[in-house]
Amino acid sequence: MTEQKQVCRCNICGNMVEVLRTGGGTLVCCGHPMEILKEKDGDVGPEKHIPIMEKTEFGVKVKVGSVPHPMEENHYIEWIELIVDGKIYRKYFSPGDKPEAEFELKSDETSEIRAREYCTIHGLWRS
Ligand SMILES: [Fe+2]
Repeated sequence: MTEQKQVCRCNICGNMVEVLRTGGGTLVCCGHPMEILKEKDGDVGPEKHIPIMEKTEFGVKVKVGSVPHPMEENHYIEWIELIVDGKIYRKYFSPGDKPEAEFELKSDETSEIRAREYCTIHGLWRS
């Protein structure tokens, strides 16, 4: 199973990094430790964040979420990531975009598949 990569955020300047390999140290930005984002998987409020995957003719479509998430200036889905058999695909969004992405996959690429997304207000979520 492919390891889910850590996502870290600086809560001062907004820098965000995905860790290609996790070592033992603490990532620091703006003089403070970066926050390691915890993946959430249970919706509670009216907005739905859990990425929903659907098989399509060419691959997989990922929607956020069961009810489309708002895509407002200060509250939107910034990216959706699909993790398939050791490969990571990512699509970025802007306010006003539709919070869904279709990823083209070869038919033999679907044995292990997961999705996650980042909401600018509510953080990191996984399927
Ligand atoms: Fe949100």
